Amino acid sequence: MAHVDIVGSGNMARGLATRLLHGRTDVRIIGRNADQTAELVESLGAGASSAPAGSPFTAEVVILAVPHGSVAEIIRENGESLAGKVVVDISNPVDFSTMDRLTTPAGTSAAEEIAALLEGRADVVKAFNTTFAKTLIEGSVADLPLDVFVAGDSESAKLQVTEIIARSGMRPIDTGPLHWARQLESMMPLMMALQVNPEHERFDWDTALKILP
Ligand SMILES: NC(=O)c1ccc[n+]([C@@H]2O[C@H](COP(=O)([O-])OP(=O)(O)OC[C@H]3O[C@@H](n4cnc5c(N)ncnc54)[C@H](OP(=O)(O)O)[C@@H]3O)[C@@H](O)[C@H]2O)c1
Repeated sequence: MAHVDIVGSGNMARGLATRLLHGRTDVRIIGRNADQTAELVESLGAGASSAPAGSPFTAEVVILAVPHGSVAEIIRENGESLAGKVVVDISNPVDFSTMDRLTTPAGTSAAEEIAALLEGRADVVKAFNTTFAKTLIEGSVADLPLDVFVAGDSESAKLQVTEIIARSGMRPIDTGPLHWARQLESMMPLMMALQVNPEHERFDWDTALKILP
């Protein structure tokens, strides 16, 4: 059975692993916190396994479920092992102190920065940055499948990711080349600020961006 490597053992690792396992894709959690990683794998159940940080990647698709600020270090330390892989960037480079701006410079995106760091050794796909962890665990929003917006320059890499998304019961939406990550990332300060704005009590990280129908 196909498996995906997920770096990180936090909220998104849990949400993504839950959905992927639902779609019969095995997951290997590569966490630097051994206790948290073991707890996550145990709670995920069959199909989930773990490996310590720094382990060589064995899956074709590697999801970086870590903060944007940690990605450069991970690429520096695991660059060779990422060669030939599809690297999925889920990050939101948002200034968390204000939630009203991105931390990346204008005219680029976190995903494009990652692609530049990888220097063509791996294909980068932007995905999942608009799906909050809670909704991934729930698997739907308002009883409808989650939309997962995808951007990337490699059609074959995007196909691998969109197949995993569809198999997991979500709707992949291919937005185009990797530069569309700029738009996908820039939607999120607003989405995130609304979750913590007391004027919108109904929003509690359980909302989703979805195109109807
Ligand atoms: N939460 C959401 O709803 C959501 C939605 C869309 C996108 N995202 C994006 O998803 C990513 C992960 O978010 P999250 O909510 O899952 O964060 P989180 O709960 O804080 O988990 C982050 C994980 O990354 C690990 N990590 C951090 N730096 C690392 C490093 N240098 N090497 C190895 N592991 C490292 C952490 O390990 P330790 O526990 O040891 O620190 C932790 O396991 C972020 O880029 C975020 O912007 C989040």
